[in-house]
Amino acid sequence: MKTLIKNGRIITAVDDYNADLLIEDGTISMIARKIDIEADKVIDASNRYVIPGGIDPHTHMDLPFGGTSSSDDFRTGTIAAAFGGTTTIIDFAVQSHGQALNQALDVWFAKAEGKAAIDYAFHMICTDLPDSRLPEIKELIRQGVSSFKLFMAYPGVFLVDDGTIFKAMTTASEAGGLICMHAENGVVIDVLVKRALAEGRTAPKYHALSRPTKAEAEGTGRAIALAEMANAPVYIVHLSCYDSLRKVIEGRDNGIAVYAETCPQYLFLDYSYYEKPEFEGAKFVMTPPLRDKENQEKLWQGLKFNDLQVVSTDHCPFCFKEQKELGRNDFSKIPNGGPGVEHRMSLIFNGGVVGERINVNRFVEITSTASAKIFGLFPRKGTIAVGSDADIVIFDPNEEMVISRETHHMNVDYSCYEGTTVRGVPKTVLSRGNVVIENGIYLGRPGDGQFLKRGLFNSPK
Ligand code: URP
Ligand code: ZN
Ligand code: ZN
Repeated sequence: MKTLIKNGRIITAVDDYNADLLIEDGTISMIARKIDIEADKVIDASNRYVIPGGIDPHTHMDLPFGGTSSSDDFRTGTIAAAFGGTTTIIDFAVQSHGQALNQALDVWFAKAEGKAAIDYAFHMICTDLPDSRLPEIKELIRQGVSSFKLFMAYPGVFLVDDGTIFKAMTTASEAGGLICMHAENGVVIDVLVKRALAEGRTAPKYHALSRPTKAEAEGTGRAIALAEMANAPVYIVHLSCYDSLRKVIEGRDNGIAVYAETCPQYLFLDYSYYEKPEFEGAKFVMTPPLRDKENQEKLWQGLKFNDLQVVSTDHCPFCFKEQKELGRNDFSKIPNGGPGVEHRMSLIFNGGVVGERINVNRFVEITSTASAKIFGLFPRKGTIAVGSDADIVIFDPNEEMVISRETHHMNVDYSCYEGTTVRGVPKTVLSRGNVVIENGIYLGRPGDGQFLKRGLFNSPK
């Protein structure tokens, strides 16, 4: 099967040029100024960008959490991702207490099997790591699961202590793996949550008020200190505020291998969303919470100057009806998380490139290339080059769209960005050479997405 993309403007993290591109059997086989050969399908990309498919390294499909499960499974969530120009996700498998890491992975293989519309990989959330289980980390790295999320938050559920974090960092880095850190001081947060509830403060905004930026910054600083002692790299997930970013900048200035992602919700939404009437603030209950608006430009600067390397979504949707409503009388019972996998590329293009905060190469880097490098997928994913998978987005930088629950494809009854107009729309999306989205229609087959056995951690810079 040959597919020819003609007249496009090819943009990677480093290049920007006009060329034609030939795809054969799922991979890019030729890039040249003009290619005039017979192909089974020809796509005209005039006046459009040809960019690497987005990589979202932080999603939670079908995640049991907070007494319910995230409302997108691997079918609905990956179709929505494809509509938004994301062609790879890295989702989080979760180890239950006492469970072998391999068994946990099997549960997540079963969730994705026959459902995924785009390629996928897994991180492993470790909740229970006695010394006897540490060799399982190395075994998982050999199986292509080369990153592990540990929590400093949620005591009694996910939290692991500093000694465990230190040992996991040492073990993973010896084998070329990476620890991803949920960096929040969950022990102090638990005290603040109990205090708020005892004082009758039950509304959604108290979720944010009981998780101060200092709690996140303390966790971030501690994670970096542990990484320095372990002589290991660390990746801070869902960084939300300037207090934490300052810790990352300081660590990087001191030569520590610390990397970090932020998410669109921290770049576009803020604390005031919790004050919406009629319990609507619950839609924005996620962890870390939305912060004061002045953090947003600091995060954009972090992305521009490479103190932050990645924009992920932390896609973890729960419907407002029946799921978020579980916490109507107690904010601590609102399932934590929000939807986002579908609109990351357009939001970041609009806020970043159209908003003149970053250039188009940096847009590609933070939405695709850097994740591919950090998480062992480069150069198969994350770039446009001969030999790479033909995960390609034909992107119209001028078309506008309005984000709305009425038109989105995520299986959730609200949008965090309802009514927002963005410029920059993925028009045609290819996954390993197959056109999965064209003219607003999903043309793929759930189950065509493949499990990606990832390589080792690879420092992007
Ligand atoms: O609120 C969030 N972020 N839910 C997903 C779990 C996590 O900590 O990433
Ligand atoms: Zn987290
Ligand atoms: Zn998450």
